[in-house]
Amino acid sequence: MIIEMSNMETTKIHEFLISALSPLPVTLISTVGATGIFNAAPFSAVAPISWKPPLICVSVGSKNGRKKHTTDNIDFSGDFVINIMSVDFLKPLVQAAGNYPGEVSEIERIGLTALPAQKVKSPLIKEAQVSFECQLAQRIELGTGENVRWVYFGEVLIMHLKDDILTAGDIDPLKLGGMGYLGKGPLGKRLFCRTRDILQS
Ligand SMILES: Cc1cc2nc3c(=O)[nH]c(=O)nc-3n(C[C@H](O)[C@H](O)[C@H](O)COP(=O)(O)O)c2cc1C
Repeated sequence: MIIEMSNMETTKIHEFLISALSPLPVTLISTVGATGIFNAAPFSAVAPISWKPPLICVSVGSKNGRKKHTTDNIDFSGDFVINIMSVDFLKPLVQAAGNYPGEVSEIERIGLTALPAQKVKSPLIKEAQVSFECQLAQRIELGTGENVRWVYFGEVLIMHLKDDILTAGDIDPLKLGGMGYLGKGPLGKRLFCRTRDILQS
């Protein structure tokens, strides 16, 4: 089968790109808004793209024709925190993708704990295996109308790691216990995988 992208519906393009480029990382991005209320939401369009400076980019779409809270908050504070959760936190992580009014602190609502970061206004999530404190380095707007999205490039200022995910000073994927996002499968349900079956080369 060959697909000419210009003939494909946007929702299908979204599904096919994610499902083919899988697994994608699963992150929980925590931010703070102008009212001081904390927010957290899962994001998988996230990639490490440079080491000096250390940069991670995240692509945030719009929702029902409106900016997501994460967009409003990063535009307000100029920073964000990328948290990596173990598979034990899949349920609250997916809950954070729900529709909550801006005045609700989603971190508390999903049963997680916000902690002050060291260099940014956005909070850390205490339960995370890893948290990256990111300062906004660049913002790019892509697309138009309902397809508008914003790509944020964050410079990692501080990385917090739980000590017990390390083996001989390196991050051990088995101890990290992270997960990958596989997109929506044939049954239309979000699919995830554990990072357990590891190959060496
Ligand atoms: C596993 C997973 C990955 C997601 N990845 C993204 C993403 O990369 N970009 C995006 O805009 N939305 C993504 N979403 C959807 C957002 O989490 C969702 O729109 C959320 O409600 C945004 O919350 P906010 O308005 O508090 O920012 C993802 C959802 C899930 C469950």
